[in-house]
Amino acid sequence: MLSRFSLAAIIGGLLNLLYVDNAPDHLRPYVIRQYATAQSTMLPREIFRFYITGASSNNAFTLLTANAPGNPSWNVLPHIHERHFENFYCFKGRYQLWAQAQDNTTQQTRVLTQGDFGAVVRNSTHTFQTIDPDTQLGGMLVPGGFEELFLTIGNASHPSTHSPYDPAFVNQTYSLTATESDIGQQQAFDVYSQLRFQPRRDAINGTAPAGTTWHTGPNQLAEFGRPYFIANGFGPKFLNNESSYQVIQPLVSPTQAGDLNFTMSTITVSTTPPNVTVPTWNLNNIQAFQVLEGMLSIQIASYDVANLTTGDSDPYFTKAMLMSQGYDGVDQQLISRGFPWDSAMFPNRWS
Ligand SMILES: *[C@@H]1O[C@H](CO)[C@@H](O)[C@H](O)[C@H]1NC(C)=O
Ligand SMILES: *[C@@H]1O[C@H](CO)[C@@H](O)[C@H](O)[C@H]1NC(C)=O
Ligand SMILES: *[C@@H]1O[C@H](CO)[C@@H](O)[C@H](O)[C@H]1NC(C)=O
Ligand SMILES: *[C@@H]1O[C@H](CO)[C@@H](O)[C@H](O)[C@H]1NC(C)=O
Ligand SMILES: *[C@@H]1O[C@H](CO)[C@@H](O)[C@H](O)[C@H]1NC(C)=O
Ligand SMILES: *[C@@H]1O[C@H](CO)[C@@H](O)[C@H](O)[C@H]1NC(C)=O
Ligand SMILES: *[C@@H]1O[C@H](CO)[C@@H](O)[C@H](O)[C@H]1NC(C)=O
Ligand SMILES: *[C@@H]1O[C@H](CO)[C@@H](O)[C@H](O)[C@H]1NC(C)=O
Ligand SMILES: *[C@@H]1O[C@H](CO)[C@@H](O)[C@H](O)[C@H]1NC(C)=O
Repeated sequence: MLSRFSLAAIIGGLLNLLYVDNAPDHLRPYVIRQYATAQSTMLPREIFRFYITGASSNNAFTLLTANAPGNPSWNVLPHIHERHFENFYCFKGRYQLWAQAQDNTTQQTRVLTQGDFGAVVRNSTHTFQTIDPDTQLGGMLVPGGFEELFLTIGNASHPSTHSPYDPAFVNQTYSLTATESDIGQQQAFDVYSQLRFQPRRDAINGTAPAGTTWHTGPNQLAEFGRPYFIANGFGPKFLNNESSYQVIQPLVSPTQAGDLNFTMSTITVSTTPPNVTVPTWNLNNIQAFQVLEGMLSIQIASYDVANLTTGDSDPYFTKAMLMSQGYDGVDQQLISRGFPWDSAMFPNRWS
């Protein structure tokens, strides 16, 4: 399911217009629709949109999506970011992600389908290749500002129909080495090409090396400094039952983020039982939600209620991605007042 809205519910600021077509140039609350203009820019065979930017988040993070058809080769030359932790999410379609840790131990690859996640920590060599005709990947980068690279090398082209990508992409050919020849310029944007890296082509059932667990059993978040992959629903889970039921699935916790001071989780929310009052949150840090399924209604003090939806205006099931600055965000608080839970689903009865 696709999110119709992305939201950066960013604390601070007093403007009254929540809905924007491009992320604001300063920190303030806002709501932005999926496939909004979002400073979209085209590169050969892919279009990028920037829902959260360094400017709109006080450099906390960048949230971008890339839409593309399948690609006969990698979408980008293998490279390293020394300063940016890059999180890959699969919103729809399929793409393959490769990552190798800084110490050059075994190269890993996974084919990501909807809801799968890959954490490319700093100094990991990585690349990716889109596979399905309607593929959308999410890139959540910390700290913010990484969009400057794409805004510089892309052509600032916006599809007037808001089509996810241009159908003409399927016939575009391009040379990666020509596209990315100016490595000197890219290092200014924290991109260090790794031209000798050979992405392995031996994945079976979406994974390599052999013996790795992918859609066949639990995935763990790795120790600090190592890339890792979490298949949709196979990571750690917690249930919070303080008001509605909320299943929190951490994707990046304080251990993996270290000095970067952020967390990421998905939160699956039930309806609210009739006799329960929805609690008010008083948050001092930046929180961003992207709705994956259902609808999330958010009221930010002194603003109207914003309904972040995939289309159903009164859903029984909602799932959202949360990015949080600091180690006391909505996900960490729900986890600390909840308990480990072994299902991706909330209970089928009110207790
Ligand atoms: C922008 O670049 C894309 C990819 O190379 C290309 O398909 C598109 O025609 C370009 N648009 C403009 C307006 O230059
Ligand atoms: C990444 O590599 C750079 C260059 O070697 C180094 O300065 C930096 O400390 C490394 N970062 C991490 C988190 O290991
Ligand atoms: C890992 O491989 C790269 C590229 O071949 C090389 O530059 C780097 O020194 C290697 N790192 C270690 C820890 O061996
Ligand atoms: C791609 O190229 C083929 C062969 O020239 C052509 O038949 C097809 O219409 C093109 N598709 C698009 C979307 O441009
Ligand atoms: C791949 O998946 C099929 C079907 O589940 C299974 O029979 C086969 O053993 C798997 N291969 C490997 C190498 O895991
Ligand atoms: C809500 O009502 C149910 C059923 O009557 C009851 O078991 C539950 O304790 C109530 N919850 C609260 C928070 O009052
Ligand atoms: C948001 O959804 C709620 C519940 O469906 C509805 O009552 C409210 O009018 C909606 N608000 C907006 C601004 O669409
Ligand atoms: C981490 O983020 C929180 C919330 O924004 C902030 O209060 C704190 O100062 C940050 N800590 C560091 C070490 O940057
Ligand atoms: C939440 O779950 C715990 C553990 O099952 C249970 O003891 C508690 O009563 C539940 N609280 C509510 C409000 O349902």
